[in-house]
Amino acid sequence: MKRPFSPLILVHGGAGKRRMTRMQADCLAEALAAGHEVLRRDGAALMAVESSIQLLEASGLFNAGRGANRQLDGVQRMDASIMDGADLRAGAVASVEGILHPIAAAKLVLEKTDHVLLVGPSAGRFARHFNVLRYRSSQKRVRMDYTALLNRRRTRSGHGTVGAVALDRSGTISAGASTGGIDTMLPGRVGDTPLIGCGVYADNRSAAVSMTGLGEGIIRLAIAKSVCDRLRMGTGPEKAAKALLHELVTRVGGRAGMLVVSPSGQFALVHVTPYMAAGWWNGTNRPTVKAVWP
Ligand code: GLY
Repeated sequence: MKRPFSPLILVHGGAGKRRMTRMQADCLAEALAAGHEVLRRDGAALMAVESSIQLLEASGLFNAGRGANRQLDGVQRMDASIMDGADLRAGAVASVEGILHPIAAAKLVLEKTDHVLLVGPSAGRFARHFNVLRYRSSQKRVRMDYTALLNRRRTRSGHGTVGAVALDRSGTISAGASTGGIDTMLPGRVGDTPLIGCGVYADNRSAAVSMTGLGEGIIRLAIAKSVCDRLRMGTGPEKAAKALLHELVTRVGGRAGMLVVSPSGQFALVHVTPYMAAGWWNGTNRPTVKAVWP
């Protein structure tokens, strides 16, 4: 009989200049426990990734779901994606408003449609049709003055994109991410998170990758798929992740961090920012959650 794979889950809560708080660290440990519980019960990696990310979205402690950043017109617009490494099915939503779990909406796109990406109010209507939990935030729409907005300096909120990668007992890997974007962004801006191959990628022939950081640079180098391609050619997860992050810094001046897991259970957590709130757990001892990796 084929020996089952050892389940493994990794989560992140953003990469940047600020160290995570105790509450964020506890929440990441809870997200690891929730995802690992799914895997322990022989659940699919896709389900584990969704379950971990939902917990982070609902916490309000990260830049996703309840805690999502506002765009410069005062509105929260969120992005998420999820991918199954067994058959390359993927689902994503971009610029959705008033949804507590954009990751659930992304998974519904994967499961219920032939599409990969739905955007804007139509994506929100799609999610509501399937009863994805809504939430009402006290947001006030700000009148737009593009001249002022384009000159606005970036601020830092200290919150981050959330994401997860997992390996299940059948040897399938999956990746997902959910975000409220970056700190200072024009209305309608979409980052790497809902773009398959940029913020998220999973393929049982190579790896599952979930990114966090400034989306503009990540998009330009299609980092998640590029890391997977390197693993497919035989490079290890940490070496591949470091090579792509080096390219990100040197070629486009980007900053990011990522989670990588291979179908054989090799994994890496790597960042070129001062901190990346992240952790991993294989079910033994306690989950490892730290702010500086490796
Ligand atoms: N990585 C999240 C974003 O740039 O939107």
